[in-house]
Amino acid sequence: MRTADGAASNPVDWSQQTRNSATGNRNTQTSNRVLIVDDEPDVLRALAQTLAHDGFDVSCAQSLAQGVETLHSSPFDLVLTDLYLGPSDLGSKIAESAQTLRPAPPVIVLTGKPSFDGAQAAIRHHVADMVVKPVDPHNLLATCRRVLQEAELERRNRELESVNEVLASVIPRTIEIKDPTTSGHAARVVGYTDTLARRCGVSEEDRASLRLASLLHDVGKIGIPDSILQKPGPLTPAEREVINTHPQMGYEVLRDVQMKEEIRLWVLQHHERWDGKGYPNGLGGEEVTLPGRILMLAEVYDALAEARSYKPAWPVEKIVALFREEAGGQFDPELAPLVADGLEQQGSRFFSPNADLLF
Ligand SMILES: [Fe+2]
Repeated sequence: MRTADGAASNPVDWSQQTRNSATGNRNTQTSNRVLIVDDEPDVLRALAQTLAHDGFDVSCAQSLAQGVETLHSSPFDLVLTDLYLGPSDLGSKIAESAQTLRPAPPVIVLTGKPSFDGAQAAIRHHVADMVVKPVDPHNLLATCRRVLQEAELERRNRELESVNEVLASVIPRTIEIKDPTTSGHAARVVGYTDTLARRCGVSEEDRASLRLASLLHDVGKIGIPDSILQKPGPLTPAEREVINTHPQMGYEVLRDVQMKEEIRLWVLQHHERWDGKGYPNGLGGEEVTLPGRILMLAEVYDALAEARSYKPAWPVEKIVALFREEAGGQFDPELAPLVADGLEQQGSRFFSPNADLLF
């Protein structure tokens, strides 16, 4: 337990009281460090005792300047501050200062005089929550626990996002080094799937998952021998069988990665077909969800539209004809004609994110 008041002009040392209160607390193993800032000594003491009794490691400050100084002198998990600190200082400025720290501790503002201006200032300064005085201890502790949980969840999400960002940049590049003929394939498929998903009204959350699945869809090619992957010309049936293991291998590679299950599933399913004649599991129709069916179609479109070592790029008319012919066969019977119409009217611009919405 620490105090910030030792050097203050009007020092108030709550440390002994809060230390005593914390003895035998219910939460010693995971003590959260909290800074409390209030210019009223009685309120500060009561808050410190309440939080220390609940197992918090409490530090106190009695002014904005002292609060900011303490905040920057050691790490805190949570800050509680009065909204008005003296005649002119706003406690919400502590939240502004907390935003410059990494990680930034969440800030709860206490106020005896709720006002529109105060609420606006709190929002502007990224305050996590506001609690009205007189403070009900149970309500205050519940708010503190919830804000801490939300901050922890946000921290884990940020970690997950950064892991996914690394995955999403490293894996496609690794696949392209192994299989130079597919250079840029994953990035293009991301663009195609995202444009199609937006046009089909797929939710923003599913679109984000789909973008990641699109980037990673060929990750299983890492396990395919270069002699097959880089073979110029057509593959033998035995070689085709080996290459057809890459969706399953991709699923296995991603098995222990922290990500949504549907991302792994769409990777596994990206060579399935609407008519059930695809691989690896011969799934048919809506057994693959709409975002997965969009990925299946976009992946084929890119393979057709780009030149490969064994074939030239197909002209748009030939691709349109295939999509019409295979609607209800290889492709979703509603999705394929819509894409064929779009390609017919706009050519490859159809997949541009800025193209006019056709449906
Ligand atoms: Fe593939």
